[in-house]
Amino acid sequence: MKKFIGLLSSMCFFSQISLAHPDADQVRKSFTAAGVYSLQKEKSSQESPDLVALGRHLFFEKQLSGNKNISCATCHHPRFGTGDALPVSLGTGGTDIGPNRQKNSGHLIPRNAPPAFNLGFNSFHTTMWDGRIAKDAKTGALKTPDANLNGINPEAKEIAQQLTTVAAAQAMFPVTSAHEMRGDAGENEIADASTNLEAWKNLVIRLLGKNNGTVGGITKYKKMFQQAYPEVKNLDQINYGHVARAVAAYENFAFLADNSNFDKFLLGNDQALTSAQLRGAKLFVGKAQCITCHSGPHLTDFQFHSLGAPQLGLGKGQENGEPQGEDRGLALLTGKAGDNYKFKTPTLRNVALTGPWTHSGSVQTLEDVILLHAQPVLFCETYRKNPKNFFYTEFYENFVSTIDADTDRFASRMNSVSPELNQLGLSQSEVQDLVLFLKSLTDKKFLSRAKAPTGDEL
Ligand code: HEC
Ligand code: HEC
Repeated sequence: MKKFIGLLSSMCFFSQISLAHPDADQVRKSFTAAGVYSLQKEKSSQESPDLVALGRHLFFEKQLSGNKNISCATCHHPRFGTGDALPVSLGTGGTDIGPNRQKNSGHLIPRNAPPAFNLGFNSFHTTMWDGRIAKDAKTGALKTPDANLNGINPEAKEIAQQLTTVAAAQAMFPVTSAHEMRGDAGENEIADASTNLEAWKNLVIRLLGKNNGTVGGITKYKKMFQQAYPEVKNLDQINYGHVARAVAAYENFAFLADNSNFDKFLLGNDQALTSAQLRGAKLFVGKAQCITCHSGPHLTDFQFHSLGAPQLGLGKGQENGEPQGEDRGLALLTGKAGDNYKFKTPTLRNVALTGPWTHSGSVQTLEDVILLHAQPVLFCETYRKNPKNFFYTEFYENFVSTIDADTDRFASRMNSVSPELNQLGLSQSEVQDLVLFLKSLTDKKFLSRAKAPTGDEL
C-alpha cells in the first residue's frame, strides 16, 4: 500500500511537471539530436594550481605587450563577459578598459573581441572569427598562422608540445599582432623581431632574463615559472609555448561556463527554464531554425556562414590592401569567392553578457541580432538608412561614423547571405521568447574564479 501511494504521488509529481512544460521532453530530444549536451558531461582541461596562478598574472600582464601598455584582460575582461564591451577593440596605445577605453594615438582593431568561455574543452576546437587558429580534436594537430607550429610533426616542436588546448595555441598570437599587443617596428624589441619565433623569444627574455635568470628578467616570474614547471631545471629552457600554456590554464579554469539553467534543463530539470524560455527553446530547434548552425555543446557548428551583418570599423581587408570598411571574412583566408563575408558561427554560451554582437560589433541588442537573422536584407537596409537608430548607448555613437556606406559592397554583402536565413517570419513575441531563451545560457559563476592577480574580485 505504502509503495502504491508512493508510486501514485510520484506519478502526480511528474504529471504536474509535464503540465507546466508539455513540450519539454520533445525540445530536449531535439537538442540532443543536434549534438547539444550539458558541458558537465565533458571534462575540461585542468592544469595545476601553480600553472593557473602563473596564467592569472600573465593574463593581466602588460609586459607581454611590446610597449607595455596592454594585456589580454584589456580586451577580454571578465567584467565585460571576457570581451571589452566595444564594437571593435582599441589596441596598443589606448587607455582604460571597457566602454571607457579611449583610442588616443592607438589603433582600431578590425574586429569585435570574441569571448573566451569554455576553451578548455576538446569539443571547442576552432577559434577566431575566420577559424584561423584550431586544434584538431582527434589528432591534436594545430592550424595556426605560423607554419612552424602546424601539423602533427611541427618544426617548432618544443613550443608546439606545450600548446595542449586551442586556448594555448591562440595565446601565441595576440603578442605578434602589431596593433593588438606588439607595437610598430622601431618602438620595442618585440616589434623589431623579424619573425614570430624571434618575437616570442624576446618576450621570454623580457620575463625571465638570460643565463638561467641571472641576467635581467622579472623576479616574480622567475619564481612562478619554476613552480609552475617543476620539471624544467633551467629557465633557459622555457619558451613562449610555456607562457601561452599558462595563460590558457587560467582561461580554461576561470572562464568555464557549464552550469547555466540551460545545462540544468539538458540534464533533465524541466523547471530550470521558464515557460517563455521553453517557448524560445522550442523556436530555436524548430520554426526559427537556429539549431541548423548553432548546434553541438557550444551551440556552434564551428562552420562559416554569412549573415550580411552591417560592417563597422576599418575592416580586416585593408591589412591585405583592400579598401577600408571591407571585411570578407573567411574569403580573406581561402581566396574563394564562395566564402565571401562568411564568419564562424559564434558560441552562444553566456551570449547575453558579450555584447555588442557580430564580428564587427555592429549590433547592440539581442533583439536586433535576431531580427538580423530573421530578415537580413530588410534589417541591413533599415540599419544603413539610419544607423543612429541602432546605437542605443550614447557612447557607441563614436563608432557610427565608421559604418561602411559603400553601395557596391552593401550589394555583395546582401548577395552572400546564407539561404537558410531568409524570411523566418518571427512575430515580436517570438523574438522576445528567443531572447529570453538566450538568457538561459548564462552562467556567471566564472566571476568568482576570474580573480585579479591580487586575489581581488573584478
Ligand atoms: C586589442 C584587443 C585584444 C587583445 C590585447 C587581445 N585580444 Fe584576444 N581577440 C581580440 C580580437 C579582436 C579577436 C578576434 C580577431 C579575429 O577573429 O580576427 C580576439 C580573439 C581571441 C580569442 C578567440 C576566441 C574565439 O572563440 O574565437 C581568444 C581566446 C583570445 N582572443 C584570447 C586572447 C589572449 C589570451 C590575449 C593575450 C595574450 C588576447 N586575446 C589579447 C582582441 C584582443
Ligand atoms: C546559417 C547559420 C545560422 C543560423 C541559422 C543562425 N545563426 Fe546565429 N549566427 C551565425 C553566424 C555566422 C553568426 C556571426 C555572423 C557575423 O558575425 O557576421 C551568428 C551570430 C549570432 C549571434 C551573435 C553572437 C555573437 O557573439 O556575436 C547570436 C546571438 C545568434 N547568432 C543567435 C541566433 C539565433 C537565436 C538564431 C535563430 C533565430 C540563429 N542565430 C540562427 C549563424 C547562424
